Amino acid sequence: MAKRPDPELRAVEAQVALTLTVDDFEAAARDMLPEMVFDYYAGGSGEEWTLRENTRAYGRWVIRPRVLVDVSNVEPMTTVLGQELPFPILLAPTAFQRMAHRDGELATAHGAASLGAIMVVSTIATVSLEDLAATGVRRWFQLYVLKDRGLTAALVKRAHAAGYEAIVLTVDTPLLGRRLRDERNSFALPPGIGLANLEGSGLPESSGSGLFSFFLERHDAALTWDDVAWLRSLSPLPLVLKGIVTAEDTRLAVDAGVDAIVVSNHGGRQLDGAPATLDVLPEVVEAAEGRIEVLLDGGIRRGSDVFKALALGARATLVGRPYLWGLAVNGADGVRQVLEIIRDDLMLTMALAGRPAIVDIDRSAVAPAPAARERGEEP
Ligand SMILES: Cc1cc2nc3c(=O)[nH]c(=O)nc-3n(C[C@H](O)[C@H](O)[C@H](O)COP(=O)(O)O)c2cc1C
Repeated sequence: MAKRPDPELRAVEAQVALTLTVDDFEAAARDMLPEMVFDYYAGGSGEEWTLRENTRAYGRWVIRPRVLVDVSNVEPMTTVLGQELPFPILLAPTAFQRMAHRDGELATAHGAASLGAIMVVSTIATVSLEDLAATGVRRWFQLYVLKDRGLTAALVKRAHAAGYEAIVLTVDTPLLGRRLRDERNSFALPPGIGLANLEGSGLPESSGSGLFSFFLERHDAALTWDDVAWLRSLSPLPLVLKGIVTAEDTRLAVDAGVDAIVVSNHGGRQLDGAPATLDVLPEVVEAAEGRIEVLLDGGIRRGSDVFKALALGARATLVGRPYLWGLAVNGADGVRQVLEIIRDDLMLTMALAGRPAIVDIDRSAVAPAPAARERGEEP
């Protein structure tokens, strides 16, 4: 006799069937995850003003469609740092993915690999960088600089040896932003989940409030531009600085000889009151003068957001929370589904806007939105 389908499984399947947008995935993830975990992923710092601004900023621009353009072939392929990408969306580094799904970063890697997307692996991942390399995913390594410079150098060397194709130095986190949701929830890593890249290094590996002791005790708040040359000397890999939001720092990054920057405010998790990334993108792109590639993350939830970022000068974009929701809801398949949702929406946007190739998405493709739209009202 055929087994009756498990009602819980049916409920999950029904939920997955309704996940047409990133917001649907977020709602489903909220239902499935413990509140402490959902809040850790979803939350920002302070009053979460910057977090909200990141998504609102996309509503301040409209797309200017061109018509009677042959869009029978839309091609989202591009290059970043000379590396070919099937579409201009990378997976931003996010910590502690085994809280979302038992396979954590491994599932994310499989989901990204199924589409040929680049995964930026966090220093504080819960699967080791070598185990992730074994999945074959295209990978960059995100670095937090520790006071122990020997340990920091060892991380970079391990990443190089394991086939990572770039080092992404996060520069917006000298200290950890104040995350009130985590304080209220007494956030702690669940038992058995630890900092896989730092095992045996005397850092907190599992349980307790590992995250906070990690930052407070080991992270180097004294890092400056003078250290960038040292970081560049550790490996021949391209160096990307993640967390720049001003023209001044863009010029310093160019002078420091880095290969690219990511306009990022850490998804609104660091300085509350920092501007939305899309708002500062034009000033950063202007300051870069085409000498380094400018990427952007923060608040991207749909393909039209990617389109607007590209029109304002981003070479490519990264997403953080969206794929975490996919991971929580449906593991590797969920990560793939979320990336497909954003990619397919980008391709449809390109077609309907009469911009069938990435190079066609230029500054003339967007314009400031009417004020009513900016205030969140229907025009
Ligand atoms: C749960 C979570 C953990 C994160 N962990 C890291 C990290 O370990 N290193 C890092 O450089 N950025 C980290 N970030 C920031 C992301 O790389 C990225 O800048 C941000 O998520 C982009 O915004 P979005 O979530 O709106 O797409 C984290 C973000 C989230 C949401």
